Amino acid sequence: MSTENTYNYRVVRQFAIMTVVWGIVGMLVGVIIAAQMAWPQLNFDIAWLTFGRLRPLHTNAVIFAFGGCALFASSYYVVQRTCHVRLFSDKLAGFTFWGWQSVIVLAALTLPLGITTSKEYAELEWPIDLLITAVWVVYAVVFFGTLVKRKINHIYVANWFFAGFILTIAVLHVVNSAALPVSFTKSYSAFAGVQDAMVQWWYGHNAVGFFLTAGFLGIMYYFIPKQAERPVYSYRLSVVHFWAIVFTYIWAGPHHLHYTALPDWAQSLGMVFSLILLAPSWGGMINGIMTLSGAWEKLRTDPILKFLIVSVSFYGMSTFEGPMMAIKTVNALSHYTDWTIGHVHSGALGWVAFVSIGAMYYLIPRLFDRELYSLKLAEIHFWISTIGIVLYITSMWISGIMQGLMWRAVNADGTLTYSFVESVQAMHPYYIIRFLGGALFLTGMLIMAYNLYRTVVGAKPHEAVIPAVAH
Ligand code: HEM
Ligand code: HEM
Repeated sequence: MSTENTYNYRVVRQFAIMTVVWGIVGMLVGVIIAAQMAWPQLNFDIAWLTFGRLRPLHTNAVIFAFGGCALFASSYYVVQRTCHVRLFSDKLAGFTFWGWQSVIVLAALTLPLGITTSKEYAELEWPIDLLITAVWVVYAVVFFGTLVKRKINHIYVANWFFAGFILTIAVLHVVNSAALPVSFTKSYSAFAGVQDAMVQWWYGHNAVGFFLTAGFLGIMYYFIPKQAERPVYSYRLSVVHFWAIVFTYIWAGPHHLHYTALPDWAQSLGMVFSLILLAPSWGGMINGIMTLSGAWEKLRTDPILKFLIVSVSFYGMSTFEGPMMAIKTVNALSHYTDWTIGHVHSGALGWVAFVSIGAMYYLIPRLFDRELYSLKLAEIHFWISTIGIVLYITSMWISGIMQGLMWRAVNADGTLTYSFVESVQAMHPYYIIRFLGGALFLTGMLIMAYNLYRTVVGAKPHEAVIPAVAH
């Protein structure tokens, strides 16, 4: 059989397996740094293991390695299945897999060594940035090339979200990484002062908006209808909220720079756009959850659907919390505190990780033409990790609001009520609870890895035949 009659599942399989692997690695580093915050001596006085070096390793591993592999796997799968064609080029798709894994390995080597641009979520030095650019351009060629040769006239909405994510990340990465190299491992940003801060948070916020949101909405729009066996609740809403989200997100970056040297009008503009962002975000959430109407009973028995639907609920929750935190007076309390960390992880664990986990439980058995080994283990995974998230985010809310209130408390004579170290002491129990929550979430990932291993062990890689129907 010529390969043109089948889908390219090989590259999807490669990325899907690495999603689970990098998920475990990235979250393990998360648990280690969570432990270090409760027990600082755990860095053993070794420079490579200090919090400052492991923290960017964690963020890069979970966002770009775990999240990135989930996005590559699902976008390559979805674009083929919804366009009824094989990927534009097997060779180029293979290059994106090996290229992306090389980026991850280089990140894992350079960050603990302390080689960093020091720009958050863009820490990797210029030679790695160039490799990222090459991989991303090829990714765009493969994805859009597949869309161009599609046999289905209509472009399914999940592909709109993937396309928006691929294009915007390319622009963000190229602009924010512009730098002058002074050696192989050191460069200086092309921007300076407050302009540098503004470009950085235009990038940073849209990394949230397009990497951690638009791409994963693409996952939501394919995998929820498939798993629920129901059509998308409203196709019109999906298109309206797509355009509203891409238009609004791009302006909201200044909410990361409240009360800084950034001009006041720019801060207020960022705040207003963040508040507006609630509407299209909830448009997406409502569309995802309502897709289940008429099939709610499936939630009782299907752990995969549980992951997917709870992820969308967390998406709704974090996109309510975000606009609130963007209000300047609220941000005056929340900024620099653990409240931000709680918000981040309700989005990261609740939304990004859960929707990816749901998609991988759907995908991996199908890529090997097998049934999932154990629904019961998946159910246990669901509950363990849900309890883990709740422990993580509630402890961070309490500790964050407490920090904010302690820092601003003043006595009648105008002196500070608490010293900084007293606030650190007060946070200690919450850091232990966060560590436990993280450890539970990681345990869930290990159960998933075992379940998927038992599912695919001994199976032959499966190549699905493309339906020959004319559309
Ligand atoms: C077992 C699961 C996880 C644990 C225990 C964990 C733990 C941590 C810890 C301790 C920090 C540093 C907080 C601080 O500096 O005060 C952190 C930061 C961060 N984590 Fe996680 N994490 C986990 C999973 C994830 C996942 C899955 C994602 C993304 C998909 C993620 C994204 C981030 C981000 C973006 C930050 C930086 C937040 C900021 O700068 O405001 N984490 N994590
Ligand atoms: C309507 C949507 C959202 C808005 C308006 C929003 C707004 C905010 C605000 C105001 C902050 C605090 C900035 C600061 O004080 O430094 C923040 C931090 C953050 N949010 Fe959101 N958020 C939204 C959704 C999300 C989602 C869905 C995720 C994750 C998937 C997410 C991830 C993050 C991260 C990683 C940070 C920390 C950035 C850093 O300082 O390193 N946000 N967000």
